[in-house]
Amino acid sequence: MGVDVPIDPDATAAIVLVGGQGSRLRPLTVNTPKPMLPTAGVPFLAHLLSRIAAAGIRRVVLGTAYRAEVFESYLGDGSALGLDLVCRPEPEPMGTGGGIRHAAQGLEQSEIVVFNGDILSGVDVRAVIGEHRRSGAEAALHLVRVPDPTAFGCVPTDADGRVLAFLEKTLSPPTDQVNAGCYVFRRDVIDRIPPGRPVSVERETFPGLLADGARLQGYVESSYWLDLGTPASYVRGSADLVQGAAPTSALPGPTGTALLLPGAQVAASASLTDGTTVGANVRIGDGSRVSGSVLMDGAVIGHGAVIERSVIGPGASIGDETVIRDAVVGDGARIGASCELLAGVRIWPGLVIPDGGLRFSGGA
Ligand code: GTP
Repeated sequence: MGVDVPIDPDATAAIVLVGGQGSRLRPLTVNTPKPMLPTAGVPFLAHLLSRIAAAGIRRVVLGTAYRAEVFESYLGDGSALGLDLVCRPEPEPMGTGGGIRHAAQGLEQSEIVVFNGDILSGVDVRAVIGEHRRSGAEAALHLVRVPDPTAFGCVPTDADGRVLAFLEKTLSPPTDQVNAGCYVFRRDVIDRIPPGRPVSVERETFPGLLADGARLQGYVESSYWLDLGTPASYVRGSADLVQGAAPTSALPGPTGTALLLPGAQVAASASLTDGTTVGANVRIGDGSRVSGSVLMDGAVIGHGAVIERSVIGPGASIGDETVIRDAVVGDGARIGASCELLAGVRIWPGLVIPDGGLRFSGGA
């Protein structure tokens, strides 16, 4: 980590919010919560937790709600990742602010770093902590500069980095700084979030703190940042991890044009490019071309298929000569030969499409 900010594990803990339904990623999130989706060979959360561990934080609470049991069975007590980790399932989804409040119960640390569990980021976590300490603010927020801020609520700051407002999405945003989903809180500020009901940290807690005259400090930078909320950003994030464009120490192999997991069988004449992940026991037939895609465990790809920027769910099969671009095929679906699935198509788990049964072109 770049910045020399001392971290005392007895004083600093992390909360990771992973309770959302991930509705924009359906059907991938029907069975698997978004932070547990395999991303460059491991659950997405493993990349984020590797960065938390690298920052010197040990105590981590996962705020779970949707499909909470999936996290516990995979992560255990976190010791395999060098962490002391517990899951705190919410009795009902508490939103982002309510989730922070709920997860903080039982934490003794006075400095709490909160992460949205679906952000892939190169931010220097210690630098955000350092900015919080230096400014004396109630909370510090990682703000990232994005090329198109119209898609986000934005967060202007003054010359000293003090947050001036939380603005809703607008066509003419006054700044390109957006909330990057990583915050450092003083513990007593979290204790002021009302307990026992859903609260949005973005829409209620932060604006409320500003209205009360609290100091919120922005830490603005423009390192790698991606919100993995949609299928397009999920495949891009996975490909960036495989190719080394996004930082992680959890990649189960060297960076390169493709990542192959154990048991993958790829025909010599097939090509794998642009950060494709080939899951465990996947089979790919002669002459198929797979680019920038995620093939989950046990998927079977026939001969001469073309798969670009797409996700093929676990155990799904793709027939010979089928073309799939910018699409999602759910768990166990069976797509016949000579189909075309393009431009945002999502196939639900288990669906069967016969040979030639779905095309986008080739006739008026
Ligand atoms: P969409 O349904 O596709 O919008 O995704 P999402 O449910 O993950 O919502 P969003 O991306 O806005 O959530 C931001 C972060 O907050 C994610 O890491 C979510 O897992 C987390 N989150 C959202 N709602 C809750 C909640 O009620 N409880 C907890 N613990 N976390 C939540």
